[in-house]
Amino acid sequence: MKSTKLNEVSWSDFSELTPIDKAEYLSTDNKIFHMLLAQQFNRKQLDEFGELATRIRKIAKTKEGILFLRSQLAHKRAMLYFTQPSTRTFLSFTAACQILGFQIGEVRNKSTSSEFKGETQEDSIRSFSSYFDIIIMRSEIGGLAERMAWALSNSERPIPIINAGSGKDQHPTQALLDIYTLQRSFEKSGGIDGKHIVFVGDLARGRTVRSLSMLLTNYQDIKITFVAPNQLQATPDILELLACKNVSYDLSNNLRSIIPQADAIYMTRIQDEWDTTSGESAKIDTSNFCIGTKELALMKSTAVIMHPLPRRNEISTDVDSDPRAVYWRQMRNGMWIRAALIASIFNCDKDIKNY
Ligand code: CP
Repeated sequence: MKSTKLNEVSWSDFSELTPIDKAEYLSTDNKIFHMLLAQQFNRKQLDEFGELATRIRKIAKTKEGILFLRSQLAHKRAMLYFTQPSTRTFLSFTAACQILGFQIGEVRNKSTSSEFKGETQEDSIRSFSSYFDIIIMRSEIGGLAERMAWALSNSERPIPIINAGSGKDQHPTQALLDIYTLQRSFEKSGGIDGKHIVFVGDLARGRTVRSLSMLLTNYQDIKITFVAPNQLQATPDILELLACKNVSYDLSNNLRSIIPQADAIYMTRIQDEWDTTSGESAKIDTSNFCIGTKELALMKSTAVIMHPLPRRNEISTDVDSDPRAVYWRQMRNGMWIRAALIASIFNCDKDIKNY
C-alpha cells in the first residue's frame, strides 16, 4: 500500500488549505488512504462504496462467504482509538474489521493509556503505528485526526487513519452510511437525486448534519430544509457551502408544516455535551422538534425517518415499528459501508467484487 503526498507539505501549509484542497493529499492513485473529511468523497466513489457494501452484505449471507471475507485482511491489525464516548461507531468499525479478518486493539479512555502520564496524543498515535496497520480514531478535538494523519505520513510507519468523529466539525463515515441508507431507501424511486431532505434538531452542533450536508452536494436537484429552534439552527459554514454548490435550502422552525413535503427526515438529538454554560440547552424548548404518531400521519407513504442515534425523546418509540422508520437499518448499514471503505483502503475491493 503506497502512502500519500502528505510528506511533501509542511503542517502549517497543509492546515491552511481548504478541505477540498486537503483531499488531494489524503489519497494515493485516486484512492482514499486517510479518510478524514466528507469533502474527500465524490459521486462516483459514493456509488462505488454503496455497491461494494451491498456486495459484502450479500457475500456475508453464507458461511463460505463469511470465511472468504475474513481471509481478505487476516494478516492485518487495526487500532481503535476512541477517547470520546461511542456505541455504534466503535462497534460497527469493530464488526467491519472482524468481517475482513483484522485482529483488533483498542484504547477507549485516556486514563488507561500513557496519556494519563502526560504522553502527547501525537506520541500515542506513533506508538500505535508501531503495532497496527490502520488507526480508527474518535476525538473531542476538532482537526486532531488531520494532524495525526500528517504526523504519521511524515514518520517511518505511514499507516492510514480513519476519522470516526472529530469535535463538532466532521463525522465523514457517518455521512457515508447515511448516504448508503438513502441509496437503499430510494433505489426503486429514482435514487437520491431530486429528493427533499429535512434535518431536524440540534443542527448547530451536530457533526453528522454538517458531514451529510456536504455529501448531499454531490447529488442533482436536492432540496434541504433545516428545521430547528433559532439557537440551534444550521450554521453559516454549512449554508455558505450549499449556496456555493447551488443546492437549494431553506430554514424553518415549524416541523409539522414541512413533514408532508419531506422524502427523508433526519432527526438529531440535542448535543448538550457542547454546552458552554451549565444547563444552557435545557432552557431551549425542543418539544415541537419531535416525531410521534401524529407526525407520522403527516408523512408521505414513501418517506423515511433517519437518525444517527443515540436518540433521546425526539423520536417516540411508538414510531419504531413503522416501515418508514429506517434508523435501525441505518445503524447496521454502518457496518457494511465501513467494511467497504476499509476493503478499498487495503485494495481488496476488486477481489470482493469478483467473488
Ligand atoms: N452515530 C454515532 O456516531 O453513534 P455513537 O456516538 O454511538 O458512535
